[in-house]
Amino acid sequence: MNIANKTVLITGANRGIGRALVSEALRRGAERVYAGVRGGLEIADPRVTPLTLDVTNAMQIARATEQVGSLDVLVNNAGIALYEDLSNPALIEQHLAVNLYGPLNVTRAFLPLLRRSQGAVVNNLSVVALAPVPVIPGYSISKAAALNMTQALRALLAGQSVSVHAVFLGPIDTDMNRGFDIPKAPTEVAARGIFDGLERGEEDIFPDPMSQSIAQAWRAGAAKALERQFAAFVPQSVAAA
Ligand SMILES: NC(=O)c1ccc[n+]([C@@H]2O[C@H](COP(=O)([O-])OP(=O)(O)OC[C@H]3O[C@@H](n4cnc5c(N)ncnc54)[C@H](OP(=O)(O)O)[C@@H]3O)[C@@H](O)[C@H]2O)c1
Repeated sequence: MNIANKTVLITGANRGIGRALVSEALRRGAERVYAGVRGGLEIADPRVTPLTLDVTNAMQIARATEQVGSLDVLVNNAGIALYEDLSNPALIEQHLAVNLYGPLNVTRAFLPLLRRSQGAVVNNLSVVALAPVPVIPGYSISKAAALNMTQALRALLAGQSVSVHAVFLGPIDTDMNRGFDIPKAPTEVAARGIFDGLERGEEDIFPDPMSQSIAQAWRAGAAKALERQFAAFVPQSVAAA
């Protein structure tokens, strides 16, 4: 999968990693970049088309599919992370609505276009999908669930020539983790790492220095072996549907 001459949709594209992904896709020669936003977007490049897209809003998702004629790469990037302590179920649900059901519903809506192009879904997850950061447990739960969902979609769509990629981001310097005093990679590094991984055909992408430190262990680990073992349960009829 090369980004050059492709059509790419990025959710949460107005700031942070999403904004850097828009720039990186343009730098790599994307033909068209649909930038999913909830408000305005100031990007002068004529190849960028803003799309009003709150990933929790079914009507906006449906309207976005009507505005996109073809699609090669969907990047599910939009996300929220709130500090809490699992005492308020509403906050856990809020994380799940944006970080789990958001990417699932957006992916399902754009699947017909992705099947047609034999395209790719890129889900921006986090290393916290593998172990919770206990000061953001609802966020961690939502990313763990989104990883599981990503692995299931990968197996279910494999026979339909749609590839599904998990991105295990480490700490990146954005608004999301302003409160964490830890080393963070710049958004440009994350964006380059994500598209490098996609262009190399990696199903699991480790785009920054922190995440790269666990890549080898993840790829050789028991969880990855189980994922492959369980993927074999997908019936041929489903895989080819
Ligand atoms: N930064 C990190 O260290 C880090 C680490 C691991 C994973 N990640 C993941 O990387 C992705 C991007 O994070 P970031 O650091 O760039 O975050 P960010 O700077 O906080 O930006 C979040 C983006 O998501 C959008 N968004 C939030 N809720 C949305 C909704 N309901 N519908 C549509 N868009 C929505 C925001 O739009 P508005 O401007 O309208 O609010 C914004 O564009 C997220 O999935 C995050 O979990 C980040």
